[in-house]
Amino acid sequence: MTHPAVIDELMTLVDPGKVLTDPASLEAYGKDWTKHYPPAPTAIVFPKTAEQVQAIVKWARRNQVALVPSGGRTGLSGAAVAANGEVVVAFDYMNQILGFNEFDRTVVCQPGVITRQLQQFAEEQGLYYPVDFASSGSSQVGGNIGTNAGGIKVIRYGMTRNWVAGLKVVTGKGELLELNKDLIKNATGYDLRQLFIGAEGTLGFVVEATMRLDRAPRNLTAMVLGTPDFDAIMPVLHAFQGKLDLTAFEFFSDKGLAKILARGDVPAPFETACPFYALLEFEASTEEVANEALATFEHCVEQGWVLDGVMSQSETQLKNLWKLREYLSETISHWTPYKNDISVTVSKVPDFLRDIDAIVSEHYPDYEVVWYGHIGDGNLHLNILKPDSMSKDAFFASCAKVNKWVFEIVERYNGSISAEHGVGMTKRDYLGYSRSPEEIACMKAIKAVFDPDGIMNPGKIFALE
Ligand code: MLT
Ligand code: ZN
Repeated sequence: MTHPAVIDELMTLVDPGKVLTDPASLEAYGKDWTKHYPPAPTAIVFPKTAEQVQAIVKWARRNQVALVPSGGRTGLSGAAVAANGEVVVAFDYMNQILGFNEFDRTVVCQPGVITRQLQQFAEEQGLYYPVDFASSGSSQVGGNIGTNAGGIKVIRYGMTRNWVAGLKVVTGKGELLELNKDLIKNATGYDLRQLFIGAEGTLGFVVEATMRLDRAPRNLTAMVLGTPDFDAIMPVLHAFQGKLDLTAFEFFSDKGLAKILARGDVPAPFETACPFYALLEFEASTEEVANEALATFEHCVEQGWVLDGVMSQSETQLKNLWKLREYLSETISHWTPYKNDISVTVSKVPDFLRDIDAIVSEHYPDYEVVWYGHIGDGNLHLNILKPDSMSKDAFFASCAKVNKWVFEIVERYNGSISAEHGVGMTKRDYLGYSRSPEEIACMKAIKAVFDPDGIMNPGKIFALE
């Protein structure tokens, strides 16, 4: 436990009142959306400037205090959890958009800018920030960079990584680095910017990010299609990709839809009950494109791949169709799900899902399983719901066995144990299923360069040594 005198010194480094130690703040800022680890930080510190972040890191080095970065705390891997007396560095007061360049189409953000704030700012400029997901109303840009956030538009726009033009970071040595200087072309050796993206704060903390924007999409239109079985989803994807530039291709199962409809605030897409549903989106920029989409839908029906479908005709209908997919995570959180975030190359998805589904239903026939995900980019979310009668501890202990089986299949298919949620604490013991021992050794060596004292979010990605 950090000595009170050391916390007193921390208070001198930031503005008055910007170090909190009351139990409610420790509880709130010590955790993310995972429910596995009880939060136990020593203090929460709120810097306002990059210089204050540097001072905090230098203080932590001197006193050998571990730091955990905290953004919107919407993470699903425990990467922003402080369970071991760490000091949490919260970026809530570094939440300003500092600049916009219309020629470069870039926005300079402090790390605490909320994702939606950036999306709305882009809209006000007639542009578009395309990384989007259900938690965009609370997640922060710094956290998105730390986890290389993905979401629902990756099939067209890629991950957060693609939209980071430049970064300013404070490393675990307390140095301020300016990485890539917002350039499009820069062939001057290692791109250190990319190392900090997806590093979960283990190398240093982002104190400023220049994000790229894109042109605004034209007349986004969604279709929800019901399929007779899982195997029909991929031919549907293939058929639509052959004709249209999709901006999204998601899927969910009937069990997921049932949970959404039970909320009572989202209309059913259509009457026909189907075991699986695909949600696709495209820009209906001309009437020809919309007609092409309808013709492709009819082709899919003729082939027996689609049983029923609907196409949005208005902004409201578009939003309602998206709610069927976007509300899933929050809706099923009521059942404290065991969650998985796995990926393979798109062509392997059908066999991969079948193998995992078989193993889960063989060993856990009584558990309710809800599948959904970003199937157009090969990312599947397996969610096993906790029976109401079972304790959280007993449920997670029983699901720990699933991890091994699922990750063995992931390894066999050359996939990833975490497509977008990150490794954090929930998957650190399984990293070897996706990364070779040689790769992990390189990763640890890189961490030692930027964080020689091991104070930057220790115990995340790799186990504590
Ligand atoms: C999603 O795709 O909805 C998010 O990744 C969150 C989740 O998996 O629950
Ligand atoms: Zn997701």
